[in-house]
Amino acid sequence: MIKDIQDKILKLKKERGVCILAHSYMSEEICEIADFTGDSYALSVKAKTAPEKTVIMCGVRFMAETVKMLSPEKTVYLANPAAGCPMAEQFDRDVIEEVKKRYPGYAVVAYVNTTAELKTVADVCVTSSSAVKICRALPQKDILFIPDVNLGSYVRHQIPEKNFKLLSGGCPTHAKIEESEAAAVKKAHPEALFLVHPECRPEVVALADYVGSTTGIMEFAEKSDAAEFIIGTENAIVQHLQFRCPDKKFYPLSKDLLCHNMKITTLADVLNCLEGRGGEEIVMDENLRSQAVKCIEKMIEYGG
Ligand code: 13P
Ligand code: SF4
Repeated sequence: MIKDIQDKILKLKKERGVCILAHSYMSEEICEIADFTGDSYALSVKAKTAPEKTVIMCGVRFMAETVKMLSPEKTVYLANPAAGCPMAEQFDRDVIEEVKKRYPGYAVVAYVNTTAELKTVADVCVTSSSAVKICRALPQKDILFIPDVNLGSYVRHQIPEKNFKLLSGGCPTHAKIEESEAAAVKKAHPEALFLVHPECRPEVVALADYVGSTTGIMEFAEKSDAAEFIIGTENAIVQHLQFRCPDKKFYPLSKDLLCHNMKITTLADVLNCLEGRGGEEIVMDENLRSQAVKCIEKMIEYGG
């Protein structure tokens, strides 16, 4: 059944010249039919370079918006229109404009998990894999980091010579894991290396052997000589790693590390989108797009 749907998707996407991009949190069956799977940074770069005229994003809305911003000439679909990222919606533009007035001269650094509107007030975007590199490279010493307080704290810790102002936003999925839970899982698996996404709380990140993006965590575990790992990010990564490295053992940091929004895209959504019966075409006002894309282009310039 799954194989039948996958075969239909592969045939249709070839016939119609469609590129399917999938975030690493997608299910194994979606990753198998994707042209490219990766973290937010790699997806942004791929969005710019993919030759196909039509792109289907299997991920959340800000990821599809990023593709559209970078390639306005392409037709871009979000495979499941209900897939949003709650962090991206946490602050609106007016609030950030007000905060900016209190911190004149600060560089505004926006996590890519933001709406297009919010990106218009940022100087540069970052992803979890590029945030430290980009904040370090910025000419400004003073940085207003929006919206993720946990990623911002991690970056601040890595660059003590700069001055960071953080807001109180963040990922509800990663932020709910407490230090005591992490300590208990580490105690239960004393031989395991602890790999953590920087969207987790600083107290959890402080216990990690490695901190990185979804792709960073996967690459670290695949290359490592260690045999056991605790995975401190969405549990899809535990499944992918167990599939790719059957001789190693992977433990979830918590059974609650599940992002509902990343889970709702199905193979059927992708097929419906290809057949013109589903998905949502991303339409963006050109004025908004041309303003918002500047900070993404800067991210790629600095991050490459
Ligand atoms: P990555 O950039 O690591 O893929 O993270 C995206 C995300 O939404 C993590 O929750
Ligand atoms: Fe957004 Fe968190 Fe889900 Fe990532 S895991 S898409 S940051 S809600």
